[in-house]
Amino acid sequence: MKRAFITGITGQDGAYLAQFLLRQGYEVFGLVRRSSLPENMDARLKWLGIASDVNLVDGNLIDLSSLQRLIRKIRPDEVYNLAAQSFVKTSWAQPLLTGQVTGLGAANVLEAVRLDCPEARFYQASSSEMYGLAQEPRQSEKTPFYPRSPYAVAKVYAHWMTVNYRESFRLFACCGILFNHESPLRGIEFVTRKITDGVARIKLGLQDKLVLGNLHAKRDWGHARDYVRAMWMMLQEVEADDYVIATGRATSVLEFCRMAFAHVGLNAEEHIEVDASFLRPAEVDFLQGDATKAHEKLGWQPEITLEEMVQEMVEADLVRLRQGLKTGVTDLA
Ligand code: GDD
Repeated sequence: MKRAFITGITGQDGAYLAQFLLRQGYEVFGLVRRSSLPENMDARLKWLGIASDVNLVDGNLIDLSSLQRLIRKIRPDEVYNLAAQSFVKTSWAQPLLTGQVTGLGAANVLEAVRLDCPEARFYQASSSEMYGLAQEPRQSEKTPFYPRSPYAVAKVYAHWMTVNYRESFRLFACCGILFNHESPLRGIEFVTRKITDGVARIKLGLQDKLVLGNLHAKRDWGHARDYVRAMWMMLQEVEADDYVIATGRATSVLEFCRMAFAHVGLNAEEHIEVDASFLRPAEVDFLQGDATKAHEKLGWQPEITLEEMVQEMVEADLVRLRQGLKTGVTDLA
């Protein structure tokens, strides 16, 4: 039985990846950090019905020795580093924490693998945010990075450390440059989930307005379930490499709103308000990925359309609200 070790297992991607790997017959271990408010920690794993099928182990991304002890004990075949301070806006308020967790945290995992289990295959969650002020209209593995937030700067560091460990120590280390990917398990602070939760609340008469920031930013939005499959596919290749994972379709925040409101028979323009407090000090206006390499080399293709995803997210939020479930699953990864 293959063993996988996932940092960030309690986040959106960690939960879907754990589900995917369990179905492939893996034994799954997930890193969790100690928290004084642990009730909601495994909410996503519970939502997917896999909380009792994974092994949660205590440690911390910024404590190298804790990672070494775990990796020595688990001896994983595959290590997926998904943990991060992943909310871009928070990275201006907590730039050093973001650098420590999102940047140096990745270096710690790489070090633990190099020192204690160098035969393990390693996946780094790189991000399309690294393109920032995009230097090409469609971004591929060859497009230069121009990070626009402390989060993106930290991701660039982690990305190049992964490439460097591959080249210096011959680790089987891959970076997946994933464009935005969403699902009903997305944290409530990210724009897509904020929208679908808001639409569901307005539909149920629980609120009247949806207050957002920049409506004109465009993102290449895919479904997290499709994207975790790509992570695994990268680690099954003969050679380690880096891949862009994207749908190739860019949609504005406003267009996303219109789709979500239309699904419940409402008009977006009647409910949206803009508040400058949701704007960012430096914005990423436009991202559209070119995943040709992943199509050709991995044979990866997204299967879920944006329309299907928006509907799934709105429906899931309606169910949560009707059942009185907590909607703001805290985003731990
Ligand atoms: N969060 C949020 N809230 N974003 C808003 C809002 C709002 O009220 N109004 C407009 N936006 C705009 C943001 O300014 C941004 O341009 C866009 O919506 C998307 O914001 P997020 O959903 O917060 O995601 P992100 O693109 O900044 O980053 C996400 O995707 C990256 C992949 O490219 C995060 O998941 C990152 O961790 C990830 O790396």
